Amino acid sequence: MTGAYGMIHVQSDIGRKQGDACDSITGLGVPRWLSRVCTTVEEGGVFPVSDVTVETSKPPIDIAAGIPDPTQLAYRQIRQAISQVLGDKARAFSALSYGDPLGERSLREWVAGFRNVDVDSVIITNGAMEAIFLSAIATLDPGDTVIVEHRSFPQAARIFSRLGMRLRSVPLTPQGVDIEVLNRLLESQRVDGNRIKAIYTIPNFQNPTGISASADTKRKLLELAEHHGIAVIADDPYHDLWFSQPPAEFPGEYRGTSGSPLLEIGSFSKWLGPGLRVGWLIADSAAVRKIAGYRLGVDGGPATLTQYALSQVLQGSWGNQWLAAERRFYAEKAKALLETLQCRLGEEIDVLPPQGGYFLWARLPEWFNSSAASVRRALAIQGINPVWGNVFTPPSEIDVGQPDDDARHCMRLSFAHVSKNRLEQVADRLRDALDEVRPSH
Ligand SMILES: Cc1ncc(COP(=O)(O)O)c(C=O)c1O
Repeated sequence: MTGAYGMIHVQSDIGRKQGDACDSITGLGVPRWLSRVCTTVEEGGVFPVSDVTVETSKPPIDIAAGIPDPTQLAYRQIRQAISQVLGDKARAFSALSYGDPLGERSLREWVAGFRNVDVDSVIITNGAMEAIFLSAIATLDPGDTVIVEHRSFPQAARIFSRLGMRLRSVPLTPQGVDIEVLNRLLESQRVDGNRIKAIYTIPNFQNPTGISASADTKRKLLELAEHHGIAVIADDPYHDLWFSQPPAEFPGEYRGTSGSPLLEIGSFSKWLGPGLRVGWLIADSAAVRKIAGYRLGVDGGPATLTQYALSQVLQGSWGNQWLAAERRFYAEKAKALLETLQCRLGEEIDVLPPQGGYFLWARLPEWFNSSAASVRRALAIQGINPVWGNVFTPPSEIDVGQPDDDARHCMRLSFAHVSKNRLEQVADRLRDALDEVRPSH
């Protein structure tokens, strides 16, 4: 039956349009620049293009998107802040002019106070993504190896790969990255000629697994990094969206201090909106100054108006009050999804209860194979779009012929974007899809 929601795709993608210049690059007379663009520049979609298109009457429920709930953004406050900044003669011109490549002083001060570090160790970036990019540029050369977690945020892996870095992965335990395996890897590299220069970790409410590293793991990771002279790029955009208790901090003596291997990344994206494109990097102040100089040749500095507006809106205790409400809101949604999944799917689903962030990581039975066309079809008919486990498998493992079989039973569900009512329907739809494909024996 074809309903109002007609054709849907299982997973969304930022794909290029059909019939554009890149479709005909093989012909004679194609300019060399265009041929270079079309063959060498990889496109940026996070998720694979859907291979399934079905007709369904079910309204789609977007459990793929790692973006905020549209009802939870501070539209009014941000609008007022922009208008206050532009209405203020003392700030209006500066807010529309080039700014400091370190970022606006008032916003850096706010971040320093919020994260309890020295202001000189803070640089404002265009989201966490740019902070990952700048950290990679600062600490790694093409051909160097960066360690990533198994599993990890695919866009970060892309940044490293595009800059010519190699990836190796280490497993995650419920307490964070597996320190013993990491230690063995670093020791073995010492013998073989060390190309490992950094580890990229998502220390809290990890994307995709939701795991947070314990205080002990965080300390050991830094001690190990210090011992081996490697950098720790800690990408932490979910840090402040904890549900019952804040995550353990990295030890104070490593946070924004001189000579520390820690580059700590944060972002406003997950609680004030990714469209602001404002995040930060906290590191050794000398490294931060160097990075600020370098970025003049990348983006010229972060967007000034947005920074002025943010530091206006964050004045006083507003930020903390807003965050407190966000935490309660997302905690409730996480609970709603968790409870309905457990209630409707029982033993057929194994879930890591989320303690913060946006995502719930789930494992389905062995027979469930997300790459099977029948499974994708059944879920598409139900109008739900989990992100399959293999999307988060570091490409290095696939490259060296280690198929991540376990990923086929796993998926990431986002409870962030869709309403609580909709989330409560996910479990029923998933169960109906499983009923469709479950083997009969
Ligand atoms: C682990 C991780 N890092 C970085 C980002 C991007 O953050 P930003 O919008 O601040 O660039 C995301 C967004 O999904 C993420 O999950």
